[in-house]
Amino acid sequence: MSSELLIRQPRMLLPSGEFFVGDLHIQNGKIAEVATKISATEASREIDARNLTLLPGVIDPQVHLREPGLEHKEDLFTGSRACAKGGVTSFLEMPNTRPPTTTQAALDDKLQRAAKKSLVNYGFFIGATAENLPDLVEAEPTCGIKIFMGSSHGALLVSEEEELEPIFANGERLIAVHAEDQSRINQRQKQFTDASDPAYHSQIKDNQAALNATKLALKLSKKYQRRLHILHLSTAEEAELLRQDKPSWVTAEVTPQHLLLNTDAYEKIGTLAQMNPPLRSPHDNAALWQALLDGVIDFIATDHAPHTLEEKAKGYPHTPSGMPGVETSLPLMLTQAMAGHCSIAQASHWMSSAPAQAYGIPNKGAIAHGYDADLVLVDLDNYHPIVSEKLQTKCGWSPFEGWNLTGLPAITLVGGEIVYERGKLNTEARGKALSFSAGEAGG
Ligand code: DOR
Repeated sequence: MSSELLIRQPRMLLPSGEFFVGDLHIQNGKIAEVATKISATEASREIDARNLTLLPGVIDPQVHLREPGLEHKEDLFTGSRACAKGGVTSFLEMPNTRPPTTTQAALDDKLQRAAKKSLVNYGFFIGATAENLPDLVEAEPTCGIKIFMGSSHGALLVSEEEELEPIFANGERLIAVHAEDQSRINQRQKQFTDASDPAYHSQIKDNQAALNATKLALKLSKKYQRRLHILHLSTAEEAELLRQDKPSWVTAEVTPQHLLLNTDAYEKIGTLAQMNPPLRSPHDNAALWQALLDGVIDFIATDHAPHTLEEKAKGYPHTPSGMPGVETSLPLMLTQAMAGHCSIAQASHWMSSAPAQAYGIPNKGAIAHGYDADLVLVDLDNYHPIVSEKLQTKCGWSPFEGWNLTGLPAITLVGGEIVYERGKLNTEARGKALSFSAGEAGG
């Protein structure tokens, strides 16, 4: 799409963190000019954005879109529609599909599927097993290696130090860990064999299980000075550990769920609140917020992990773990900003520029000349409740059902093309494969 577009008079967030009211000109998918007033040129279309705020599109660095193999939960088309509606213009997707993404062929297959089906830009992790070291070192293009140290099954579970060590010792690319200590979880499970209340989930997979695994990942990362990213940090103890000792090549993320929900949620929404790592206490919520505000945690990911309502109705412990998130993350964080818990510039940094920097995604995550026109216009004047009937995710529910949120996207653009506009999706639009340079820690 090489058409031109003028966005007139939004309040736009500049890389400095300041707001500027003016016009933005998009040409050939890139931001060509930002100025107080731009005279009309060949622009094929003008958007009157006078009452809207323009932010860089969200980069969601942890989603599960279930294709191939689990398309009854989500697929790359439905998941990317949900992204477009939520202002997520790029996603990084996890390898626990069927088959798992553990080889170059499986990675190529996903890239081909996404080229055909995804409305937004995409990148994929390669999953570690105890046996696929050559693939982990060589596969391209990938945003990094995903290791499930716990809470996974089959080949994707790599929990033992002897199996983890060669992965950290070989190659240079980013390693992202799901840090839970599987042997501790197995031990604790024995004490809760009759547990049918999902609230036990947080006790079985306790804070110590997360801390043990994060410590082990940090130890190996330090030994080899290996670029490490800790996915969905969930406990006060892990936040404190990183506060004391976070090498410059380590990053960490937190989900909106771990910031905004806690174990009280089981009473209200039962197994819909079940995820891995589990929801924690209000004390953990507060510690995670503080760590995010202080830069100990670098950015936000949703861990969008859709499961059907039938699956979630099976009764604990037969229920799958995970919640959807791409459609709600930006409004959730902007609502927090409007309530004074952080600034809009901080929320946008955590959701756009920081993940772009950490994964080395060029030309994304900022409103600046020459950057890709991956943008979202949000409405910060009105509040709307989250209603499951309106969601685009195939699973059709949200743990935030009924929450009254502001900052809902009015228009989302990917590469200068409108993919979502006031309730309507452009289902013909297609995103592009992301590229990744080495990436920097300390986003
Ligand atoms: O709760 C979760 N669900 N956590 C994960 O890490 C995986 C995810 C899934 O794939 O369902």
